Amino acid sequence: MRKISIAIDGYSSTGKSTLARQLASALGYIYIDTGAMYRAVTLYALREGLIGKEPDEAALAGRLPGLDIGFELNKGNGRSEITLNGENVEGEIRTLEVSRHVSQVAAIGAVREKLVAQQQKMGSRGGVVMDGRDIGTVVLPRADLKIFMTASAEIRAGRRYKELLDRGEEVRFEDVLHNVRERDYLDSHRAISPLKKADDAIEFDNSDMGMKEQFERIHAFALRVIDQKKGAS
Ligand code: DC
Repeated sequence: MRKISIAIDGYSSTGKSTLARQLASALGYIYIDTGAMYRAVTLYALREGLIGKEPDEAALAGRLPGLDIGFELNKGNGRSEITLNGENVEGEIRTLEVSRHVSQVAAIGAVREKLVAQQQKMGSRGGVVMDGRDIGTVVLPRADLKIFMTASAEIRAGRRYKELLDRGEEVRFEDVLHNVRERDYLDSHRAISPLKKADDAIEFDNSDMGMKEQFERIHAFALRVIDQKKGAS
């Protein structure tokens, strides 16, 4: 039987990646963090001085053919981590500095074209849990299970703030909240594949739901879909 594909979309800091990773591990599927790919391109653009007040779209587009974004397994923690031209940049892509520019970079057509093609290739054989903003609508429109996650901006900013503090970044809660709201706006108003719930996605507001409960509910959903596919094949 063909393994199913699962698309998890939603606003920033809704816990998409935690859920997607747990789900992939429980099902024995591959987890693909597409936000990490946009972050890696943003890190590259920052390092190369291609972002002033705004990214230099033409210059960045010109560099894209030679840019290699990939994943490698970290044998220590069993996680797949993002690479930029062969260098593991998992730690560098999560800073507030990268978060400040990533929505602008992700709005560039040439960047999306390159990354979406790569994501579709990675998802073409099923057996994946992919998280992002346009997975259910654009990258894997035929995904067997689509989840759309939301939570209030304050709750999401609180989660991200704690994460940044735990990693030793000195940040203010107001700045994190501002960044979350700004990215919500930019991600859902950009011209190309804006963040929106696919018509056939199941919406989960986890403002008041623990991660464990949420995982159990969505895992049960996934098992049901897998069972239905078995019956159909
Ligand atoms: O999931 P994240 O916060 O790491 O994503 C970082 C940014 O990348 C987010 O602000 C929007 C963009 N993104 C996107 O446009 N499309 C995706 N499939 C994934 C992320």
